[in-house]
Parts: sequence; structure tokens; C-alpha cells
Amino acid sequence: MGDGPLRRLLDARLVVGEAFAHGDEDGLTPAERLLVVGAVPARRREFAAGRRLARSALDELGVRADSILSGPRGEPMWPVGVVGSITHCSGYVGVAVGRRTEVRAVGIDAEPDEPLPEGILHSIADPTEVSMVADLTASAPGPAWDRLVFCLKEVVFKVWYPLAGSWLDFDDAAVVVDRGSATFRATLLRPAPELAALGLPSTLQGSWVRHRGILVAAVRIDDLQGSAG
Ligand SMILES: CC(C)(COP(=O)(O)OP(=O)(O)OC[C@H]1O[C@@H](n2cnc3c(N)ncnc32)[C@H](O)[C@@H]1OP(=O)(O)O)[C@@H](O)C(=O)NCCC(=O)NCCS
Repeated sequence: MGDGPLRRLLDARLVVGEAFAHGDEDGLTPAERLLVVGAVPARRREFAAGRRLARSALDELGVRADSILSGPRGEPMWPVGVVGSITHCSGYVGVAVGRRTEVRAVGIDAEPDEPLPEGILHSIADPTEVSMVADLTASAPGPAWDRLVFCLKEVVFKVWYPLAGSWLDFDDAAVVVDRGSATFRATLLRPAPELAALGLPSTLQGSWVRHRGILVAAVRIDDLQGSAG
């Protein structure tokens, strides 16, 4: 489905859906509509855009889904045997879904390619990451590196949460960006037995892309041996 930025980051094991506008609120099932009944219109539109793409992606995967509800912490409740992730930001919505037999987990995130508001970087990044952002920013023109670090941590959370069912703090993952290859590594700073129990490697590897004013990043986990974007 399409050849947008996310499609470039993930291989054919994942069905990807992307759109560059949120559109209207159409296409929600009654149960899905209830989830956003009290939300502001922009939130209802982005939610609907994600659900429409998700349903098409599941169709393409050969999986029928009526409602795609949300779990207690907002995670999409995929049909049995499916893993997936949804992201939206102004002017973009993306979805990736795959079969659990082929993909252990996937996380995607999109953010505007704009600097974070003043003071936010220090609350989401450790001193090493802050210094990496300063070096990258000083070295040459590029994306908003502080926003990219934020985006990568959101990707890590979306991989983590569906497997762990528990919170992951910003200082629970240390991110290293490789500018030349547009990839990244995120080391999970959690006890090894916990990671092993979740079937997660200690270091996640992923990739990112800058596209029409948007940063998009993704991680796909295959198995305990490693991950690849
Ligand atoms: C949940 C969170 C990651 C969403 O990211 P975001 O950049 O704000 O928003 P996005 O549009 O990219 O993603 C929203 C989608 O993420 C998905 N999502 C929400 N909660 C989720 C969770 N707990 N697990 C997995 N996916 C989740 C949903 O599909 C949601 O869209 P929907 O409600 O329309 O279905 C973010 O709001 C958050 O809580 N972050 C704090 C935790 C964190 O990042 N820790 C750092 C770890 S290193």
C-alpha cells in the first residue's frame, strides 16, 4: 500500500498504510466512535484516519477486523495473531501491521520536523543524548535532531508497551543516532531477565526518514536475536 516514508523503512513482512491528510470522521464502527465521543474534532479525525488505514492494512494482510478498540493505556487492540502500530501528526497518518508468526513487534512514530519546545529535550534525554543532539546540530544542516530523539523514544515505547504492558520512562532507553545511514540504536536500560522474559533484545535497531517536513521512524523486532528496521 503506497510508497510513503514508512514504506521505505519497513520490509514486506509488514503491510503499511500512509496518508498525508486526516480527512473526516467517517469509517469508524459504533464501538470505535464511542472511544473518541468526547474528544475534540481534530482528535476524532486523526483517530478515524488511523482506524481506516488500519482496517485496509488488515484487509491486505488477510485479516478481518470489525472494531479496533484501544487498551487501557491507549494501545490499539489488534486481532489475535496480529502486531501493529499507529502514528499520526499534523498532515500525516501511518499504520504498520504484520503477522505475529513473522514479526514479534513493531513500533512507528511520526513527528513534525521542528525543534522541540524550549526545555523539553532535557526532560526526555540524558546528558549523553543532549550532547549528541548538540554535536549533530552543530555539524551540518539536517532534521530537528532533538525532535528526532523524541520520535525514536516514542517508537521504543510503542514496541515496549504491547509486550510488557507497563510503562517505560524516557531514561529507560538510550538512543544513538547514525546520521549517515539514517538508522538508530536504542539500548533498553532494564534488567536482562526482564528483557529476556519479554523476548526483547537489549538493543533495538531501527531507521528514520525525513519527508516533507515530517520525521518518521520505525523499529521491527524479529526475535530474541535482534531487530531490524
Ligand atoms: C503513547 C505515545 C507513545 C503516543 O505517541 P505520540 O507521538 O503522542 O502520538 P502518535 O500519534 O504517534 O501515536 C498515537 C497512537 O499510538 C498508539 N498508542 C497509544 N498508546 C499506546 C501504547 N501504550 N502502546 C502502543 N501504542 C500506543 C495508538 O494507536 C495511538 O493512536 P490512536 O489512539 O489513534 O489509536 C505517547 O503519547 C506517550 O505516552 N509517550 C510517553 C511514554 C514514552 O514515550 N516513554 C519513552 C520510552 S523511551
